[in-house]
Amino acid sequence: MNRISIASPSSAPIPPSKAKERVAWLTELLGPELSRVESRISEVLESREPRLTEISDYLVNAGGKRIRPAVALLVFKACGGGDVTDMVDLCVSLELIHTATLLHDDIIDSNDMRRGKDAAPLKFGIADTLVTGDFLFCRAFEVCGRFEPKVVAWAADACVQLTEGEIMQARFRRNVEVTEADYMEIIGRKTSSLFAAGSRIAAYMAGTTEGTVDRMNTCGLEIGAAFQMIDDLLDITGDARRTGKRVGTDLLDGNPSLPVVAGLGIPAVRAAFTAETCTREAADAALAAMAEAGLPEKIRTRATEHATTATGILSELPPSPYRDCLTELVADLVDREV
Ligand code: IPE
Ligand code: IPE
Ligand code: MG
Ligand code: MG
Repeated sequence: MNRISIASPSSAPIPPSKAKERVAWLTELLGPELSRVESRISEVLESREPRLTEISDYLVNAGGKRIRPAVALLVFKACGGGDVTDMVDLCVSLELIHTATLLHDDIIDSNDMRRGKDAAPLKFGIADTLVTGDFLFCRAFEVCGRFEPKVVAWAADACVQLTEGEIMQARFRRNVEVTEADYMEIIGRKTSSLFAAGSRIAAYMAGTTEGTVDRMNTCGLEIGAAFQMIDDLLDITGDARRTGKRVGTDLLDGNPSLPVVAGLGIPAVRAAFTAETCTREAADAALAAMAEAGLPEKIRTRATEHATTATGILSELPPSPYRDCLTELVADLVDREV
């Protein structure tokens, strides 16, 4: 077995969530641009088959943080970008890709709840949910296909990595051989890839230097890592009324999430992770043991390290309200509750 070593918990208190203030700031800076993204998404969900529009609308209108468009637009502006028309379309593509992955992920993870509602496979069935995911991927490339090949290739590469991340994760399902390095590789592919694609595309579209485009790519990777670590944390400590997702899903499903990988040395965690069918009782015992071992604090510390690396990279950009807003947004990601 590979034991996982994780950083010791920070003694600093976790600041209260500033999510509301950040949303207000973001709206002040980019409200019209984000509204344009929403309108364009609605337009491209149209189809000759009403069922495709119905399933897409169901998920899109259920909410969602729209964090990927927000990050990409802020990077674009922070890198000196002007007219946002093209970036709006690119943000639409990013969000459509993300939405498609959620539909597919809800099939893969057997989720029954997403964005506070019945998950699409439960409501519409697996077959139609699967095809709607494909529909959204195709729409995403219909929207971004008009950009230069390099940009389309970056978006496509993120999608390829997403599929590779899901399959790699499946390879380590209920598998105690999984290491921390495997975990980092999985989340790099399944989550960071899209943040990185959005950030590098945004920097490129802003017309900044090649060096800055590369730095924004790295920044996106770090944001994605922090984001997924907190998503994994919320799976063990979150409130379903806020996250809109059922707590303990990763354990019940045998997913090698960070609390699981970091907690493999704890008998109750190991038992829940390896059980062919993990019962609610086994999952609850594992969750209690994780809390007892201080894993939530350790995971938050790990996520903070990645967020800090990301904000360090952002500090290399010239000062602007966009850079500052993004810096705060990234710093706050680690104490998000949604
Ligand atoms: C959930 O993403 C899937 C992950 C990659 C962790 P989000 O947390 O951004 O989901 P929504 O869009 O806000 O529902
Ligand atoms: C993200 O991981 C998977 C995707 C890239 C969609 P999760 O499986 O943890 O996402 P949630 O928790 O179901 O949203
Ligand atoms: Mg999932
Ligand atoms: Mg999750």
